Amino acid sequence: MSSTDATPETASREDVLIVHGGTPLEGDVTVRGAKNLVSKAMVAALLGTSPSVLRSVPAIRDVEVVTGLLRVHGVDVELDGDTLYMDPTSVESAGVEEINVHAGTSRIPILLCGPLLHRLGRAFIPDLGGCNIGGRPIDFHLDALREFGAVVEKDASGTHLSAPNGLHGIRYELEFPSVGATEQVLLTAVMAKGTTELRNAAIEPEIIDLICILQKMGAIIKVHTNRVIEIVGVDELKGYRHRALPDRIEAASWASAALATEGSVFVRGAQQADMMTFLNVFRSIGGAYEVDDDPVEGGIRFWHPGTALKPVALETDVHPGLMTDWQQPIVVALTQADGLSIMHETVYENRFGYTSELRRMGANIELYSDCLGGTPCRWGRRNFLHSAVIAGPSKLHAADLQIPDLRAGFSHLIAAMAAEGTSRVYGVDRYITRGYENFEEKLLGLGAKIERPVTK
Ligand code: EPU
Repeated sequence: MSSTDATPETASREDVLIVHGGTPLEGDVTVRGAKNLVSKAMVAALLGTSPSVLRSVPAIRDVEVVTGLLRVHGVDVELDGDTLYMDPTSVESAGVEEINVHAGTSRIPILLCGPLLHRLGRAFIPDLGGCNIGGRPIDFHLDALREFGAVVEKDASGTHLSAPNGLHGIRYELEFPSVGATEQVLLTAVMAKGTTELRNAAIEPEIIDLICILQKMGAIIKVHTNRVIEIVGVDELKGYRHRALPDRIEAASWASAALATEGSVFVRGAQQADMMTFLNVFRSIGGAYEVDDDPVEGGIRFWHPGTALKPVALETDVHPGLMTDWQQPIVVALTQADGLSIMHETVYENRFGYTSELRRMGANIELYSDCLGGTPCRWGRRNFLHSAVIAGPSKLHAADLQIPDLRAGFSHLIAAMAAEGTSRVYGVDRYITRGYENFEEKLLGLGAKIERPVTK
């Protein structure tokens, strides 16, 4: 069993939330910086010769993991409220044991390679963690690093990298616009000798925000049309001051929760520009929203207008398509739509595992290996169950649920809140705290009837 697996029997007794369903969520929540930018921004601080300051940092476990990784490499990290101060002036190599404490907890360690090779000439990467949503190989990362001039050696403890002749710019085309591999190339190319041209790059808003940070540090990065990014290596980068862009995955999770529970939630901090595709889907399903673009107090209010939800055919894609991380909360809402909906998952091969728990709650969801309702994708030929047909509306009833991964976990919570009766959701501390700040306080503030079991 991997370090991220747990069943109701093996999950700690405390790691469970009791949810009394059937209450619409009503009220306000605030989203802070995006998990998938903040962790990378913290890695970027390693490249500076002076301290960096990152604002709007959420209190989530992934931030704690990267804090630990930076600290073992000699970076002084201090959190004051939601502002993170990182001083990398005394960066030093860390021992394999110290780094391995963080094995299996996050995907971020792989992104430390380029910065550590530039600063120290070597790097060590433990076994990676993150969510169980597919094979999640790191071949693009290691292949690009080798091209940059890194020597990669694997042993039982993990992966060791060195750069005996330094790192130099490359011309590289990604097989798929991977978010992590694009970040890997950016974080390595900014200080490599010469120019790097990355083709078929990912262009998610979190990547553009990372590019803004690197530019503040002194990097020269040009984002061309057609997913081409050109990076001119520089000799030195300084620290940055930056406010992280808001978490559009968390924002969409609250929006879907409002829809599925027939409630109304104002998500302070949600930004229209980064959520356009989600907003179109939300409206097509029959949800309503209103944008308030006040720079400080603004956000988006999402609500169920009281009329029947409509079925839709959707497929996930890289930006500007429908995010794979929006898929799970949308599917829960679609169990309440009147008719047949389709969701074709094209980014990960195995991201529908969570639907078996929804089926136990009464949802009518069938999985298929065909590319249903959209463009053929790379999983269709390989027999992965990556398309879902959702027949609604289904009356959801309570169940004991085991969370399989972060985003699916929040969707299980949404389903439990939309269902009749009392559900027990296992694995909330293990998974949901990785990416949702203060989710229990936020749920209580929205009127959710949740509680922890009484421990004797
Ligand atoms: N891929 C490879 N080889 C590689 C790298 C990726 O085949 O070396 C494949 C993956 O297996 C997957 C596809 O490329 O099929 C896309 O993966 P990508 O590299 O884009 O994902 P990632 O960088 O590992 C980030 C987010 C995920 C989010 C994806 C897609 C972080 C820490 N994670 O993962 O977020 O789903 O991009 O947008 O940024 C989450 O927040 O819960 C989460 C899983």
